[in-house]
Amino acid sequence: MVTDHPVLELAGVDHVYPDGGTGLRGCTLALGRGRRHVLLGANGAGKSTVLRHLNGLLRPCAGELRCDGQPVGYSRAALAGLRRRVGLVFQDPERQLFAAHVGEDVSFGALNLGLDAATVAARVDAALDAVGLRDYAGRAVHHLSFGQKKRVCIAGVLAMEPEVLLLDEPMAGLDAPMQASLAALLDRLVARGVTVLLTTHDVDFAFAWADDIHLLAAGRCIASAPAGQLAARADLLQAAGHRVPLAFALHAQLAARGVLPPAPAPRSLPALLEALRALPATSTILENTA
Ligand SMILES: Nc1ncnc2c1ncn2[C@@H]1O[C@H](COP(=O)(O)OP(=O)(O)OP(=O)(O)O)[C@@H](O)[C@H]1O
Ligand SMILES: [Mg+2]
Repeated sequence: MVTDHPVLELAGVDHVYPDGGTGLRGCTLALGRGRRHVLLGANGAGKSTVLRHLNGLLRPCAGELRCDGQPVGYSRAALAGLRRRVGLVFQDPERQLFAAHVGEDVSFGALNLGLDAATVAARVDAALDAVGLRDYAGRAVHHLSFGQKKRVCIAGVLAMEPEVLLLDEPMAGLDAPMQASLAALLDRLVARGVTVLLTTHDVDFAFAWADDIHLLAAGRCIASAPAGQLAARADLLQAAGHRVPLAFALHAQLAARGVLPPAPAPRSLPALLEALRALPATSTILENTA
């Protein structure tokens, strides 16, 4: 169903874990459809807790989860419906993997959707291909490296073709080429209309990739805005345990010295380098320092 509402929304959600630990405290956060979202926050800020609420694994103690503007129910059928639309890749692959072999693990969620065997097989092949594990279907899960296990988890959720994809620190533990290939894969999904939300501790990647950034501190979302609007907000970023992304900090210094125009601010270091390369070789600053 397509509406003007955010596809998913937490409204004033509190969560207290059974041992009394506070997970979320009045957390309000909305995911615009078909956008790249990044959730940033320090260790223990509540990022994983937010993701577990967004696919119904955890239930708010107060406040509510809305999908297309409607409060989500927690009956078995309502949760099955929610999880068909919203896929979650866990932070820790050991908590997500359960089958002995890769192909079996990746096919589990898709089989549970009631799809026929041929469709599941095609989806599993495509998903393994997408995460660079084309020939791994028959491999034993427990022999895989950490990064390979993570990629198996991502493939399992991809095979379900969710409308909203939640990934908890998907880049952590992946090598640089695999990180780049995962970012490109997520871009292709967003181009097809999928909404993606990921968590990361890499503020430079977050601002280079995201359309929207959500800052979490002590269980509360303290800011949600397009990446360009938050990049220079050192105060809010610091409250969420982060610094200003390097590309923006460097650009601000170069703009203050008249080397680069104040806008547009490059989103990444490669984009900043590109802007510098486009300058004439004998710019004022080089003459002054000669
Ligand atoms: N199963 C649990 N039982 C009790 N408390 C928990 C549980 N899971 C999380 N918490 C607590 O809830 C708070 C938020 O934890 P959460 O795992 O959501 O943080 P996070 O932002 O994902 O952190 P990290 O960056 O370390 O992954 C923390 O204080 C944590 O100790
Ligand atoms: Mg976490």
